Amino acid sequence: MAITDQINELKSNFISDLKLVDSKSIDSESIYNKYLGRKGLINTIYPLLSKVSKSDKPKYGSQINDLKIFISDKLNFNKNKISEEDKTFTIDTSLPGNERSIGSIHPITAIINEIKLIFEKIGFSSIYGPEVDSDYYNFEALNIPEHHPARDMQDTFYIDKNILLRTHTSGSQIHFMEKHNPPIRIISPGKVYRNEDISVRSHCLFHQVEGLYIDKNVTFSDLKGTLNYFAEELFGKKIKTRFRPSFFPFTEPSAEMDVYWGLNNESDYRITKGTGWLEILGCGMVDPEVFKSVKYDSKIWTGYAFGIGIERMAMLLYGIEDIRAFYEGDIRFLRQFK
Ligand code: DAH
Repeated sequence: MAITDQINELKSNFISDLKLVDSKSIDSESIYNKYLGRKGLINTIYPLLSKVSKSDKPKYGSQINDLKIFISDKLNFNKNKISEEDKTFTIDTSLPGNERSIGSIHPITAIINEIKLIFEKIGFSSIYGPEVDSDYYNFEALNIPEHHPARDMQDTFYIDKNILLRTHTSGSQIHFMEKHNPPIRIISPGKVYRNEDISVRSHCLFHQVEGLYIDKNVTFSDLKGTLNYFAEELFGKKIKTRFRPSFFPFTEPSAEMDVYWGLNNESDYRITKGTGWLEILGCGMVDPEVFKSVKYDSKIWTGYAFGIGIERMAMLLYGIEDIRAFYEGDIRFLRQFK
C-alpha cells in the first residue's frame, strides 16, 4: 500500500474513533495515546519514509505532519498532559552528575589579590590608573627629565608624540594626588608595558603594584617597617629581606628590596641567577619635586612610595621558569592553579 493510502486510512479510522469519543463510549486520552502516543499509530508510519525516494520525502513527511495536527486539533486534548508512561519516569539520584569545568584564577591575579588583602589590613585602599597615559603622568610629573633613558623609544610604546602605554604604575600616584588631599594611603595594581624583546625572563607586558603613603613626619623606617610586614605576610614570617641603595627620579633617597628565597632547586637557581636573592620592588621617600607637580607643600607633607614587580615573584612562588607562560592562555598551564 502506498504511503498516501496508509495515511488516508489512518485518518478515516481516526474519524470513526472520534465518534466513539463524542458518544462517550471511549475517552479522549486513550484515543490520543492510540494515535499520537509514543507507541501510537502515527509513529508507525514514519519508518515508511525511509523507503521512498529522497525527493518524495518532504511531500510525505508533510502529509504525516498534517494528519498529526488534524488529530490533535480534533481531540482538543491537552497535548502537554503527561502520558501514563511518562508518569513512571523517575530521577536516578545514584547516577553521577555531569561534571562542569569551572575556570581557575590566573596566578598573577591571585598574587595581586593577596597583595591587596595584605595592604588593606593596614589601611591601604586600591585605586586604578589608566594604562594609556600621557608623557606628563608617566614621566614629567614624576621628575623624569627629557633625556632620561626610560624615555628612550626603545623602552616605551608611544601611541603618538605625547600619548603612550604606561611603563610603570607610578603615574597613578600623580593622577590620585591631583584629585585628593593628604593624608593618602593607596596601592594601585595593574599592567605596564615596555618595548622589550620577549624572552624567558622578560616580556613587553607585565604587572606592578604601586604604593603611596603621605602624611606628616613619615620616615624611611616607616617605609622599611611596612615593606618588611608585606614580605612576611606574602612569603612567611621567616623571610629575610635586604634594602640596597638605588636611584629613581621620583624618590630621594631610593632603595630596592630583595628577599632571600634560597636555592632549594634548579628553578630557584635560574630565577635568582644563582644568588638565592630576588629583587622584588623599588621604593623611596617621595621627592619634593613630585609634590611640586601636584601642588602639595613639601614643608608639611612627607611620604614614601614603592613599586612591586609581580611576575618575578610569581615565578619564584610557583616555580615557573618561563615568563611567557603567564600570557599564553594555555589551559593546561592555567588548570594547575585551581
Ligand atoms: N616605577 C619603578 C619601576 O618601574 C618602581 C618604583 C620605584 C616605584 C620606586 C616607586 C618607587 O613608587 O618609589 O621600576
